[in-house]
Amino acid sequence: MRNLQTERLVLRKWQLSDADDLYEYACNPLVGPSAGWAPHQSRQDSETLIRTHFRCVTFHWAMVLPEHGKVIGGINLTRDLKRNYLGARTLGYSMNPAYWGNGYMTEAARTILAFGFYDLDCGIISVYHYPDNERSKRVIERLGFTYEGVLRRSSQLFDGQLHDNWCYSMTEEEFRRNYRESRHLSSGSGVR
Ligand SMILES: CC(C)(COP(=O)(O)OP(=O)(O)OC[C@H]1O[C@@H](n2cnc3c(N)ncnc32)[C@H](O)[C@@H]1OP(=O)(O)O)[C@@H](O)C(=O)NCCC(=O)NCCS
Repeated sequence: MRNLQTERLVLRKWQLSDADDLYEYACNPLVGPSAGWAPHQSRQDSETLIRTHFRCVTFHWAMVLPEHGKVIGGINLTRDLKRNYLGARTLGYSMNPAYWGNGYMTEAARTILAFGFYDLDCGIISVYHYPDNERSKRVIERLGFTYEGVLRRSSQLFDGQLHDNWCYSMTEEEFRRNYRESRHLSSGSGVR
């Protein structure tokens, strides 16, 4: 997986040495439960997740502030399990609350969308959030996704609770229309 460059971030493969930075936010109850996972109890939880999941899932990037080498969040483009064909992927993300409110996730997600449509030839990219996740909803709206509706009781969380999913998607045609100037965001400009 090649690295990608945004205006202020480098998106690169996770490394085991990122465990401290991941734990810094993954232990925060504001983060994991909004994305469906339990807060980490120890640095070891974070290192294990990087080793057994983040480094194995093909398109899972650490979001790095290049001047400090600090990982401030993660973003991924995985198979969309609600759509049963390869050209459909879903966007997922989470970020250290210390860096919320600066537009970093919207910036990273734009580059990942361009990667998905231009480099992976996705036909559609979806994104889902739980009903009370207003911050994620605003990111999704800023990115220009189309609201599809609510898939009721569609996610069972780590604590056994069932949640509705608010569903959004963007087709390749919509992306090309909305992001006419964006070819530079992915193909050809990534830091390899
Ligand atoms: C979802 C999440 C990543 C959103 O973080 P965020 O900081 O709100 O999103 P962004 O980085 O895109 O920043 C957008 C905010 O920065 C502000 N901003 C400041 N400078 C900006 C810039 N240059 N460009 C864009 N926005 C900017 C925006 O106005 C916006 O604030 P607002 O929503 O109050 O209007 C974060 O809340 C999170 O990690 N939550 C927990 C995990 C989670 O919910 N994951 C998603 C599961 S669906």
